[in-house]
Amino acid sequence: MITLMWAMDINKVIGLNDALPWHYKVDMAYFKKHAYHTQVLMGYQTYLSMLSYFPSKKLPFEKVYIASRKQNKIENAEIVHDVITFLEDRKEDLMIIGGAQIYQLAFPYAGALRITYVLKPHVGDTYFPKYHLENFKLVSYTTDHELILSHYERVKK
Ligand SMILES: NC(=O)c1ccc[n+]([C@@H]2O[C@H](COP(=O)([O-])OP(=O)(O)OC[C@H]3O[C@@H](n4cnc5c(N)ncnc54)[C@H](OP(=O)(O)O)[C@@H]3O)[C@@H](O)[C@H]2O)c1
Repeated sequence: MITLMWAMDINKVIGLNDALPWHYKVDMAYFKKHAYHTQVLMGYQTYLSMLSYFPSKKLPFEKVYIASRKQNKIENAEIVHDVITFLEDRKEDLMIIGGAQIYQLAFPYAGALRITYVLKPHVGDTYFPKYHLENFKLVSYTTDHELILSHYERVKK
């Protein structure tokens, strides 16, 4: 199944200056629990921002796919030049971990969503693209102070 995982504030802000606009331990723990040790796809900008969190370039995932049209080689990762073909062909589980451009491309392929709602506004320059949840059902959520950590699954038709 393809799962999209992201955190956004009440204005759908997801990023600032190529980094997360916030640091919430509970959200990091949620990300760690569900994305670490899985196969992930991220855009090249998100990859660059991750390197500031993991300067050794060894990311904590089972396998790393990086979407880029320009790059041909990245240490410890496989480049995806054509995201749509990659997602169309994908049979194994995959976590999509950002950023905005890649969420937009991948949303139609999502079987599940893990959304962290940050219940206050933050300054940002990157927003989650327009989407709707009518084909998804909320299967679980927990709350923690300013956060709601949610899990949705696509409704089978
Ligand atoms: N809050 C969250 O949960 C969260 C999660 C992740 C990221 N973020 C934030 O989101 C921001 C980055 O998002 P972003 O939208 O600027 O960048 P992005 O989606 O991470 O990466 C964009 C890059 O992906 C590549 N790309 C785009 N379309 C493609 C396609 N069809 N096929 C192959 N490659 C393609 C291009 O790389 P090339 O230019 O190399 O060709 C493009 O520059 C940062 O601020 C980051 O911190 C937030």
